[in-house]
Amino acid sequence: MYIRDFGVEMWMNEYENDCEINLAETCVKPFTVREIMEMTDNPQATWESLLDIQLTYGAIEGSELLRGELAKLYESAQPANIVTTHGAIGANNLVINSIVNPGDRVVSVLPTYQQLYSIPESLGAEVRICPLLPENGFLPDLDEMRSYVNENTSLICINNPNNPTGALMGRAFLEQVVEIARTCGAYVLCDEAYRGLNHTEYGENFAPGMFDLYEKGISTGSFSKAFSLAGLRLGWIAAPRDLIEAVNRHRDYNTISCGLIDDRLAAIALQNKEALLRRSLKIIADNAAVLDAWVAEEPHISYVKPQAGTTAFLKYDLAIDSKTFCSRLQHETGVMLLPGAVMDREGWLRIGYCFAEDTSELEEGLSRVSAFMEKLAQE
Ligand SMILES: Cc1ncc(COP(=O)(O)O)c(C=O)c1O
Repeated sequence: MYIRDFGVEMWMNEYENDCEINLAETCVKPFTVREIMEMTDNPQATWESLLDIQLTYGAIEGSELLRGELAKLYESAQPANIVTTHGAIGANNLVINSIVNPGDRVVSVLPTYQQLYSIPESLGAEVRICPLLPENGFLPDLDEMRSYVNENTSLICINNPNNPTGALMGRAFLEQVVEIARTCGAYVLCDEAYRGLNHTEYGENFAPGMFDLYEKGISTGSFSKAFSLAGLRLGWIAAPRDLIEAVNRHRDYNTISCGLIDDRLAAIALQNKEALLRRSLKIIADNAAVLDAWVAEEPHISYVKPQAGTTAFLKYDLAIDSKTFCSRLQHETGVMLLPGAVMDREGWLRIGYCFAEDTSELEEGLSRVSAFMEKLAQE
């Protein structure tokens, strides 16, 4: 089966291990196992309980404990609506493969995580792209989306909060997407890998989950971003039970179950989610302020201020393609940014601004980017 190269992942694989300052990474500074243990009431007892886990395949769909904690992230989910996966990347892959058949029409936003349009394309679907444009605050044009759905449309793919733009769809907007999907009976897959990271105080930081808004609504989630635990390689699907059963038929072929130790650490993290999220939101707020001040002063850069998540999409005004820009930037300054071209958007740069807790790293990276652009402007 032919599938296009995954632009972002290939760029990350090639460049991320030899940069000095990583401004391409989308995670908030990851936690250590020790830090997770120390959040519990009795770290020693929690640690001992890990040592006694017998390493069987475990509960196939994910432990009751973890699925119970995950269900609490939604208004109307039961543990039976949840299945754990190998990251949100596994979740998206399973959902799309379970729904899409050759000849189906699939509507997807762009820019977004490439899985959402390249997997349907590789399955033989006719993919219609709703471009996210800065003049619309990077939100989809709903009239355009409406014009793309027809009786063959099996799936609409959206991403909220959006990677790379940090745009956020609120409840009323999401309900309009649902209305469009209802006209043709399509599922809506909302990649919610960055859910929990609205740029507001803890308590108001979760966008509504697509699972709660629509009888054919599917939310995919991740431990990598809001919970800063990418190394667990755990994500999940929240979906109507019939879709979970369809997913499980595929999952039996490629997953069986997720790691038992990962499952337990994830459950512990969720039992302490307030502390995890407060830390992520603080890092994001501090770094977002630095980024915003830099953009305001930087003559070569403009952006739509992100509302959520850990990334922003930067427009630059220099006559150089984005891959050459990023490759030279890294070789000449040690700073890594991600070229828009690998997200199918030439002329843009994605910045991930939350990987370091201390804002001085971002400040140093941005000042090197400014000096580099000054040099480019003189060439
Ligand atoms: C929008 C989006 N979805 C899914 C993923 C995959 O995340 P995970 O680490 O949970 O597999 C990413 C990773 O960057 C992402 O940005």
